[in-house]
Amino acid sequence: MNNHITLGEYIIDNQKDFQYSSGELSLLLSSIRLASKVVNHEVNKAGLVDILGTAGNTNIQGEDQQKLDVYANEVFMRTLINREIVCGIASEEEDDFVIIEGKNKSHDNKYVILIDPLDGSSNVDVNVSVGTIFSIYRRVTPLGTPVTKEDFMQPGNLQVAAGYVVYGTSTMLVYTTGNGVQGFTLNPAIGVYYLSHPNIKFPEDGNIYSLNEGYYIHFPQGVKDYLKYCQEEEEDRPYSARYIGSLVSDFHRNMIKGGIYIYPTSSKAPQGKLRLLYECNPMAFLAEQAGGEASDGYRRILEIKPTELHQRVPIFVGSKNMVNKAKEFMANYPEDAKY
Ligand code: AHG
Ligand code: MN
Ligand code: MN
Repeated sequence: MNNHITLGEYIIDNQKDFQYSSGELSLLLSSIRLASKVVNHEVNKAGLVDILGTAGNTNIQGEDQQKLDVYANEVFMRTLINREIVCGIASEEEDDFVIIEGKNKSHDNKYVILIDPLDGSSNVDVNVSVGTIFSIYRRVTPLGTPVTKEDFMQPGNLQVAAGYVVYGTSTMLVYTTGNGVQGFTLNPAIGVYYLSHPNIKFPEDGNIYSLNEGYYIHFPQGVKDYLKYCQEEEEDRPYSARYIGSLVSDFHRNMIKGGIYIYPTSSKAPQGKLRLLYECNPMAFLAEQAGGEASDGYRRILEIKPTELHQRVPIFVGSKNMVNKAKEFMANYPEDAKY
């Protein structure tokens, strides 16, 4: 267990490695750590609440699920707002970004955060892992003024930190500040995260592909061709198919075991489904920091200049050699790049 280093200790010890080490980013990461424990506690009780709920109200299951999405959003928003540690928040669950005034309405906090508070939430009612994803940038507008949309519309390669929490068989917080990827596992008995997975690296090759193959008929030809390649009988193929339906969990498994996650464009979702700012950019930053790759099939995800807060893009993310192979197939259909 790496001499039992806790997340709190790790954040303090590594503050100096960060180029703008005023301590603000450390406090921000500590706030995420706190909010994640609160959400973890609630997610763990979801089944119990269900049992109690169905006894009294036949409708409670659907309502509860919806509540958990909203609940996770509220916990992260409230924690970050109360601690006045960011100057703005954009959440997948909010229509627009939220301006945080800060102490004495000074607007002098440096960072904005973008979050997917509960990823894979449709999995809650069947006891399958869900997650939280976050992405942090330095604001580009001057300190002392309210944040604007411009502060959130930055390409992913300007992220200063990104990470996720996976509420799984054990709960883990995995993050990067640009110096590799570190994974911490929660000891639920005492509510403390310990460094369990230092310096996580994607295997360069893998034998897992993860995508919703049910939509095969709607996929672009490049994706169909790559899938055929994955399923061919060769020395190291066919690959295994694994798809949980929670990006966080699918990504986490692939990062540890080696694999590729794909959510392509389709005739049903012409821009793809996953959101650039809350899902694709943070995962792309983590992937690259772990030696993997992230592409929209043609371009590096981290170089896409966002145009909309809730913008969707296709994503191919995972082990380097697998993503590059998928890109080779996509390159045969350059006209599909104009999604
Ligand atoms: P969210 O719950 O935040 O809306 O995200 C769900 C996403 C992602 O986690 C998952 O990989 C994908 O949706 C699954 O989509 P399909 O059901 O279309 O496969
Ligand atoms: Mn999501
Ligand atoms: Mn979500």
